[in-house]
Amino acid sequence: MTASHRIVLIVSGGIAAYKSLELIRRLRERGVAVRCVLTKGGAEFVTPLSLAALSEDKVYTDLFSLTDEFEMGHIQLSRQADLIVVAPASADILAKMTAGLADDIATTVLLATDKPVMVAPAMNVRMWDHPATQDNLATLKRRGVRVIGPDEGPMACGEFGYGRLSEPETIAAAILDALKKDTAPKRPLLAGRSALVTSGPTHEPIDPVRYIANRSSGKQGHAIAAALAAQGAQVTLVSGPTRLDDPAGVETIRVESAQEMLDACRKVLPVDVAVFAAAVADWRVEQAADSKLKKQDGSAPPTLSLTENPDILKTVSSAPKDRPALVVGFAAETGSVVEKAIAKRGRKGCDWIVANDVSTGSGTFGGEDNQVHLITPEGAEEWPRLSKAEVAERLADRIAAHFASETDKPVLIQKG
Ligand code: CTP
Repeated sequence: MTASHRIVLIVSGGIAAYKSLELIRRLRERGVAVRCVLTKGGAEFVTPLSLAALSEDKVYTDLFSLTDEFEMGHIQLSRQADLIVVAPASADILAKMTAGLADDIATTVLLATDKPVMVAPAMNVRMWDHPATQDNLATLKRRGVRVIGPDEGPMACGEFGYGRLSEPETIAAAILDALKKDTAPKRPLLAGRSALVTSGPTHEPIDPVRYIANRSSGKQGHAIAAALAAQGAQVTLVSGPTRLDDPAGVETIRVESAQEMLDACRKVLPVDVAVFAAAVADWRVEQAADSKLKKQDGSAPPTLSLTENPDILKTVSSAPKDRPALVVGFAAETGSVVEKAIAKRGRKGCDWIVANDVSTGSGTFGGEDNQVHLITPEGAEEWPRLSKAEVAERLADRIAAHFASETDKPVLIQKG
């Protein structure tokens, strides 16, 4: 078989190492050549022979000899690969990667490589939750390491929680996706298109010093604005109050309230695509006070009377004039995510919905990761757990692909 892509798969220690066999099978089926490195810990759970049989290649083990170094040095190993994948990635190997240790062939390859690296962690839930592991993960992500999973569920140790290796199919899909992206020509596929993105929370005033808000960090919306701009789109970001810097190459309009956000969005229209990622407050105080509310001895606290805010997504989706060709909404749901998001798509009148389950810890406000479903008229797709930047890139790619397939549609609006 002529392989279209090559990866180095590092199998580290842990009960989930057996799943690496299935991963190799799935990758080989898709024409990916896999060269395995097995750590000493990994070799306690799978044999070099089974990896060699499935990968149809030599396996490099921790017991590496001078012959291995002679035939294929660690630099050579990574040079010939498009991607280095660690699956399963134990807490130990993640710590070593963070510290830059190189005390065996696996860590030496990881330190010597200039290729993209992906890790699929698997460990006991307490090890996963430990601040040391979480800090290591944050550092690795900052260095550009892609992280797949772990999943939540019952574990071999009898506990329940995050730490299960993602399913081989999910890891294989993420690898394929990364390989496609890394080798794809970097063409700005949205050049000439205009985009509007909303992001962050809104602040609804109670009086000049107090307001109602929510915990949205704006990370996902800002990442989407940046990803669309990276694809060449002319992007305007309408953002509620956040601590984030304005994304480079994006015109950013800062607003406070839902009403201000709607007014700003209206001014930005027409655009080709609008993505509504803001966590807009559903209600505002009916009559915000002009001056600071004062406590008065003995009198009851003030009662806030709320009124509904305009629904920006719905307003833009149903605009008789200037409706963007593609309107994408977000949905934060708890339970039955797909069903609720499909219903929300109908209610709001948008084209796509990016939905996440905020009850599982994924996509929590302020977090770094997001596990979403993309709802389109064609159906629902489950995406693996990704960083918010990766979700944004993937969404921008999908938007670009959508416009590429719609080129026969005659009128596409170009912004002034
Ligand atoms: N949205 C909006 N304007 C609002 C409320 C929501 O533009 N006033 C947008 C959000 O930016 C998001 C989508 O609508 O893209 C869904 O937001 P969500 O809060 O999940 O929906 P709600 O309509 O508030 O529904 P519910 O909270 O009842 O699920």
